[in-house]
Amino acid sequence: MARKAFSRMAVSTLAALSLVTLAACGSDSDPASTSGGGGGGDDLIKVGFSQLGAESGWRTANTESVKASLTKENGIDLTFVDAQQKQENQIKALRDFVDQGVDVIAFSPVIETGWDEVLQDIKDAEIPVVLVDRTVETTVEDPFVTWIGADFKQEGTTAGEWVKENHPDAKIFELQGTMGSGAQTDRQEGFREVVGANVIGEASGNFTRAEGKTATEAALAAYPDMDLIFAHNDDMGLGAIEAIEAAGKKPGEDIKIVTVDGVRDGLQALVDKKFNFVVECNPVFGDQIVDLIKKVDAGETVEKETIVVDEAFDQTITQEFVDARSF
Ligand code: AHR
Repeated sequence: MARKAFSRMAVSTLAALSLVTLAACGSDSDPASTSGGGGGGDDLIKVGFSQLGAESGWRTANTESVKASLTKENGIDLTFVDAQQKQENQIKALRDFVDQGVDVIAFSPVIETGWDEVLQDIKDAEIPVVLVDRTVETTVEDPFVTWIGADFKQEGTTAGEWVKENHPDAKIFELQGTMGSGAQTDRQEGFREVVGANVIGEASGNFTRAEGKTATEAALAAYPDMDLIFAHNDDMGLGAIEAIEAAGKKPGEDIKIVTVDGVRDGLQALVDKKFNFVVECNPVFGDQIVDLIKKVDAGETVEKETIVVDEAFDQTITQEFVDARSF
């Protein structure tokens, strides 16, 4: 039976690791990949990182954090591949990493399911996996050593609690992220446990600004009564602003907007009173990923889960706060 690879817990558990050190690897010739290059020294840890895409401001900030931290100065010889939101690209990158004999594989899975075969192959090759950001559902036993990311369900719950307290009668349209991704399923679950009865419509905007705008245009026609949008990320909320203004309505007033992420553009919309509430999902944890990779490579015991701490913001934040935001 398929199972979720971990359960969300406020307190992380400890798990023992197996130590694997493999032979040297070559550089990926895929145009979407970048490498630490030059083959690195023998003392560098060879890491294959499969990023799921570049769909949002959050993802861009996360990639910058990963690249700034997984450096030769920090002991890492990185091969980074952008999957452009396609699972088949990601599976190919993971197989390439196995062929290259990297020491550690890190990846952010675009959706939760469909990884069984490649995860089994990685396990058979005895390459440890560090799961980043999103989660997997798989039949493979112990498919990864450690996972680091946000508590998506709690983010949805926090958004729902703000709506329940401030707009208990809201007619909500839910602008969902990439269907089948951990960020979509868990945010939806957490939100609906609190205010599910108020949701009158839903559609996916695939975590992008353009698709968020298109989905909102359709929703404005289909649900003329809607007065609040819960967008699973800032980018889709920013697309919703464009659609709402084009329809002659005022975002933040006629239609309230609640989002997740808290990137600078999203917080600017909050200061401009076009967003009403933003739950943070902090993308800057590259330094923590490096620490985990080093420990995993050394065969040390690491926590099975590391939850990145998030905040939440309302319209009382200041312009100075937004200007000082690092992502
Ligand atoms: O998995 C994290 C989510 O992915 C972010 O909230 C979203 O902006 C990104 O696309």
